[in-house]
Amino acid sequence: MKSYQEVYKILATETDYLSGEKIADRLNLSRTSVWKAIQRLQQEGLEIDSIKNRGYKLLDGDLILPQEIEANSPITVQFKPSTKSTQTDAKEAMEAGAKGDRLYLSTSQTMGRGRFQRPYYSPDKGGIYMSLHLQPNLPYQNLPAYTLLTAGAIYKAIKNLSLIDVDIKWVNDIYLNQKKIAGILTEAITSVETGLVTDVIIGVGINFSIAEFPKNLQTKAGSLFSQKTPITRNELIAEIWKCFYETEADELLYLYKKRSIVLGKEISFKKDQEIITGKACDISDQGQLLIELAKGEKIWLNSGEVSLTKW
Ligand code: BTN
Repeated sequence: MKSYQEVYKILATETDYLSGEKIADRLNLSRTSVWKAIQRLQQEGLEIDSIKNRGYKLLDGDLILPQEIEANSPITVQFKPSTKSTQTDAKEAMEAGAKGDRLYLSTSQTMGRGRFQRPYYSPDKGGIYMSLHLQPNLPYQNLPAYTLLTAGAIYKAIKNLSLIDVDIKWVNDIYLNQKKIAGILTEAITSVETGLVTDVIIGVGINFSIAEFPKNLQTKAGSLFSQKTPITRNELIAEIWKCFYETEADELLYLYKKRSIVLGKEISFKKDQEIITGKACDISDQGQLLIELAKGEKIWLNSGEVSLTKW
């Protein structure tokens, strides 16, 4: 572990100010190295107060520690402090022959993208941007409903760690207090030779503790936590993938439906340039949404976007 990571670990468990000398002693470092480590942590966005003769105290923020995530979850982690898009990182690694079950993680994206190629707001403070690469090697019709399973795992992890009940909007959005706090983008790569889906990349963006949003997002986007966070991003990331790998699919799908904000509600969606309304009745294990239209006719929606007529 690097010196600044070790200094962070000490400050994160300390409730009072701790002198540079004590930190240096505990880690067998020089006072200058401790000072440099503090500078680095501040550059990474952590708020650290320093008082003459008392030392340093971590006021806010956390540091991503890939080793800690790996120790507490069944995946390996490839971390970059900043990147274009973790989805692209995962794809490039896959093309270069990387094995699956690896998480590509970053705390800032310059070209984050969501569904329908929309840009995904990815500021460098308070966000989680990650893409899990899987190698299912299955026919498309046999693929698990990865987006739903991931949403179920996000719900369960947040509940386990903070007791907060987030909501899920079909198909890939996580909401809290009627604002979107996370989104999932699942992409699949099929082999032309075998027709099998060889690789899947599940991208997850979470507004963990984002203080401000640009004007166009202010009414729609929210954050899981405001300034003070009761858990770290490391804990949440590890718990999400632990829940994803170690929970029965049936349970994750059950949680998805239980927290769905569309089931039983009147919704509208666009089909061939026409706005259609109906009642959302069910979600299949493959992730399709069953809609009952005005005249009683029932149709399954495979993908796309629905809007709630009212919350
Ligand atoms: C959506 O809301 O439409 C899906 C958003 C998915 C965003 C994540 S952030 C990590 C990964 N990298 C990206 O560029 N996109 C996904």
